[in-house]
Amino acid sequence: MRAITLRKPDDWHLHFRDGQMLNETVPATARCFARAIVMPNLVPPVVNAEQALRYKQRIMDARPAGSDFMPLMTLYLTDQTSVADIRAAVESGVSAVKLYPAGATTNSDAAVTGLTPLYPVFEEMAELGMPLLIHGEVTDLQTDIFDREKQFIDEHLAPLTQAVSGLKIVFEHITTADAADFVLSCSERVGATITPQHLMLDRNDLLVGGIRPHNYCLPILKRNTHKLRLQEVIKSGSSKFFLGTDSAPHTRSAKESPCGCAGCYSAWSAIELYAQIFDDLGALDKLEAFASEHGPRFYGLDMNSQRITLIEQDWVIPEHIKLWDGETIVPFYAGQTCRWKLQ
Ligand code: DOR
Ligand code: ZN
Repeated sequence: MRAITLRKPDDWHLHFRDGQMLNETVPATARCFARAIVMPNLVPPVVNAEQALRYKQRIMDARPAGSDFMPLMTLYLTDQTSVADIRAAVESGVSAVKLYPAGATTNSDAAVTGLTPLYPVFEEMAELGMPLLIHGEVTDLQTDIFDREKQFIDEHLAPLTQAVSGLKIVFEHITTADAADFVLSCSERVGATITPQHLMLDRNDLLVGGIRPHNYCLPILKRNTHKLRLQEVIKSGSSKFFLGTDSAPHTRSAKESPCGCAGCYSAWSAIELYAQIFDDLGALDKLEAFASEHGPRFYGLDMNSQRITLIEQDWVIPEHIKLWDGETIVPFYAGQTCRWKLQ
């Protein structure tokens, strides 16, 4: 039986939600990740340092006994975010600021309607070394949903990287060859996270033979050629790309609905599926750097000293996860066999 031991990984893009849901999501992530960048798209969103610190405490309180899992907090950028908000966030130990274009995804209505007015805020972030995490999609209804990422690069991201060249940017959950190639063309201050679903699936897995709402996430799954390019860049071992699951739980009824929510809840199997992806690419030797080294290096943090071990052993991802109120969540890759297992 093959086994692989890794420095303990971190998840650089994650949705925990709030309230009782934390009792499900926090243990699921803390089982194998040492840290996670926690997304701020709550209702209402986390828009200042004080709210981020209170949310952090609620997450810490939901950790399993004895866990030293550490949440890394983010602020939700709005049109009103000020330079003073950024300074206060840095002083409070907030790790990053998240930019959602208004209307791009779950709970993004209060987000940013235009980037240019925020350039003074970005200048301050560059000065203070605070990273900007970007959901990179345009939101105008004229743009085809499959072209939203590419158009965001051309219209917003490329100009931003030129105008505020000192700003550290993580292009989150990239889905296209265009995004991968753009990141490769930028300085070392621009990196990207890649999810398991965008490495494993393409839009056929969403739409062929019936609509599969549990594979619906944003940015939407793209055509196969884009998935292959994402696989190529992780296989290359480039330090610009690192692990970010975008694990994003929604209840089964919210997903299996006439207007279903976007998000794949992958926390139960994320590190195992990444291992399977790298193994299938013949690149298991590149997994540790992607999962445990590139992220801390980008964020200027220490790498974890603990280790985890994965063994090659089939197990079946549960069909559903029961919540406290009788609702369920259908996890990502539910009912399917995963070849790697956390020991
Ligand atoms: O699929 C997604 N779900 N993409 C996002 O950007 C947000 C997330 C969520 O919060 O549900
Ligand atoms: Zn996300």
